[in-house]
Amino acid sequence: MKAIILSGGKGTRLRPLTYTGAKQLVPVANKPILWYGIESIVAAGITEIGIIISPETGGEVKAKTGDGSQFGANITYILQDEPLGLAHAVKVAQPFLGDSPFVMYLGDNLVESQLDLFIDKFESKHLDALTLLCEVENPTAFGVAKVDAQGKVLQLIEKPKNPPSNLALVGVYLFSPEIHHAIANIKPSARGELEITDAIQYLIDIQKNVDSFQLKGWWLDTGKKDDLLAANQIILDSCLDLTIEGEIDAPSKISGRVHIGSGTKIINSIIRGPVTIGNNCHIENCFIGPYSSIANEATLIDADIEHSVILQGAKVVNIHQRIVDSLIGERAQLKPAPQRPKALRFMIGDDSQIELA
Ligand code: TTP
Repeated sequence: MKAIILSGGKGTRLRPLTYTGAKQLVPVANKPILWYGIESIVAAGITEIGIIISPETGGEVKAKTGDGSQFGANITYILQDEPLGLAHAVKVAQPFLGDSPFVMYLGDNLVESQLDLFIDKFESKHLDALTLLCEVENPTAFGVAKVDAQGKVLQLIEKPKNPPSNLALVGVYLFSPEIHHAIANIKPSARGELEITDAIQYLIDIQKNVDSFQLKGWWLDTGKKDDLLAANQIILDSCLDLTIEGEIDAPSKISGRVHIGSGTKIINSIIRGPVTIGNNCHIENCFIGPYSSIANEATLIDADIEHSVILQGAKVVNIHQRIVDSLIGERAQLKPAPQRPKALRFMIGDDSQIELA
């Protein structure tokens, strides 16, 4: 069994961060989203992994993720010239996949790992496609499956107005090589993409074995800011490495589950976990509240933050209101103001959002 992880695409919903970087590399609890997928695939015993990349962000994905040795895997990078759909990505990966059955994993999804159970079902029932499904409250926003009492998939509908169930398609699939034949027989959808749902529907229509597996754990699609913050919260709650390597001065107070990386200085601050702080950060006169992730080389002075993600090299200085539910991009700066500012001066990238709450 092989695996492909889709890490191309446009990432329009996470702009402006995705103007300068790949959305799959945005960190959750200070680790790129993509790496959680790689780790879960390797944990299920699969080591031949192809990563689909785009011309715009592929170099960065490759440079950061490497040849796979750090994960115990062998990674091949596969260039998709344009984001022409999930099934198109499978098409460009066909030379890598050959006749092997494979896992297809969307690189911006986080799934509580049950991949081994999923693979067991696929292999023992000799399936051509196995879809992972998760109950959701708003099925009209997702690809939805209609299944029979045994879980056999009868129909897939993209963002249905009248959903036949509340079972959304999670971004993890298993396929036999039959999927290549299906993809060769479908046409681009109205939005101009080769849709994986159409390819699976084709398999259903020609009576191939398409089954489903209902995920009992959590699943997050990190495409938007609030989803990313939710993912950050879940990961900080479930798996935080509790090492403290940096320097903490005597007046500072650390409580709860906290990770502090090497070279980081914590001065006269309160840190209330779960919180992760990367390497070489400077935190002075701050309150860092639960569910915050601060990446390497960030500087926070006289600031108060909670339930937020601060990316590498960002600076937040002298902000006296509490910063909540925020995502602050790499090297972004929130600068000091006099006590009562007479004017606000901004340099804000396209598609940024500032809320004065
Ligand atoms: P999507 O989130 O469906 O698409 P997108 O990345 O273009 O995002 P947005 O809606 O914000 O514009 O993609 C799911 C995953 O698959 C994501 O990791 C990107 C990847 N992908 C490809 O690799 N190739 C493609 O052709 C498409 C459409 C997506």
